[in-house]
Amino acid sequence: MAISNNPHTSEYHIELEQKYGAGNYEPLPVVLERAQGVYMWDVEGKKYYDFLSAYSAVNQGHCHPRIIKVLQEQSQKLTLTSRAFYNNLLGEFEKYATEYFGFDKLLPMNTGAEAVETGLKIARRWAYEKKGVQENEAIIIVCKNNFHGRTTTIISFSNDPIARDNFGPYTNGFHKVEYDNIEALESFMEKEGKRIAGFLVEPIQGEAGVYVPKDGYLKKAKELCEKHNVLFIADEIQTGIARTGKLLAVDHENIKPDLLLLGKALSGGVYPVSAVLAQDEVMEVITPGSHGSTFGGNPIAAAVAMEALKVVEEENLAERADVLGKRFREALNKYISTSKIVKLVRGKGLLNAIVINDSEESDTAWNICLRLRDNGLLAKPTHGNIIRFAPPLVMTEPQLDECVSIITKTLEEFEK
Ligand SMILES: Cc1ncc(COP(=O)(O)O)c(C=O)c1O
Repeated sequence: MAISNNPHTSEYHIELEQKYGAGNYEPLPVVLERAQGVYMWDVEGKKYYDFLSAYSAVNQGHCHPRIIKVLQEQSQKLTLTSRAFYNNLLGEFEKYATEYFGFDKLLPMNTGAEAVETGLKIARRWAYEKKGVQENEAIIIVCKNNFHGRTTTIISFSNDPIARDNFGPYTNGFHKVEYDNIEALESFMEKEGKRIAGFLVEPIQGEAGVYVPKDGYLKKAKELCEKHNVLFIADEIQTGIARTGKLLAVDHENIKPDLLLLGKALSGGVYPVSAVLAQDEVMEVITPGSHGSTFGGNPIAAAVAMEALKVVEEENLAERADVLGKRFREALNKYISTSKIVKLVRGKGLLNAIVINDSEESDTAWNICLRLRDNGLLAKPTHGNIIRFAPPLVMTEPQLDECVSIITKTLEEFEK
């Protein structure tokens, strides 16, 4: 395939990726070159509203000046020590983040999937060393339609054939229950409680299509975990850090997980930083040599994450997400009341999705996203006929209203 030779065109970059890159993604055809706050620009200079935020990593807005300043300054002083030595920022970050989220200890990693893996390892060790589960007998309960990342262990308990097929043999020790079904969870806990190490759950299932469980589900699940001495493992990698209108999505039900998994917006989308937080009684099962990562807890990550968390607090991003989210759903619900093409809007804070009135296999959602792009707003379908809407939380009310108008005008084009 001949590649066009003008690097100022989208075509050139798309062809490069298609020729030289592995085909593990199917991006919307738009090639971005720079971004600031809620806006992104493509290589041809067209401006867009970002309505995905890199899957909720850029909650603080693109290239937040405070976070970028810290990144620049730290990158000129000390980038990586490995954990063979101490550095002067990791302890500061650990103190800041544990106080911020209310836990005793933090274990730093890089990607979301690594945080999940870390949480699973801690839960298993805890089961053997503290709960008294017999060797190799521990079970971790997960939910149907979960998304927790892409490692071989994590996809072992996925039920998405695209993520899973032909990557076996799979890791054992996981049991799937239906999401948002407290009876299913209860009956399995009653049956196997003594062997269960943890219950791993997304407080809202983001990738599955922004499924919000019924009020009280997470609270009851936590009570069941307490009854059966099971660790409640909250994967807040997508829902956490102000996205849903509270600092954590579990805060909507006032529950405290035993293991909290964070990633994405922990760095404001500037650097791969993830973490697992827990109380001493749980985290102490991790001993020297039992887990680690060359880059985990590096000084740039520590400095950037601290600043990213300060921005969330000082700019009241949780409150903004709450107010803007209500405004968004109210406007969309008004549109839907007379729409044929959209069935419903659901979500919490600024993690929302619309369900398109067409079959799962149809390309309507994709075509709507292409038209949204043409009209200056970037979003992506998640699972067939569902479009996720998750803009940066630094958006203003007038900007949100403009976005609603772009979305509704675009949808109108599909009503015929
Ligand atoms: C809930 C959840 N957990 C884990 C992950 C994996 O994170 P990463 O892609 O950084 O490995 C994601 C990513 O979308 C996620 O949404």
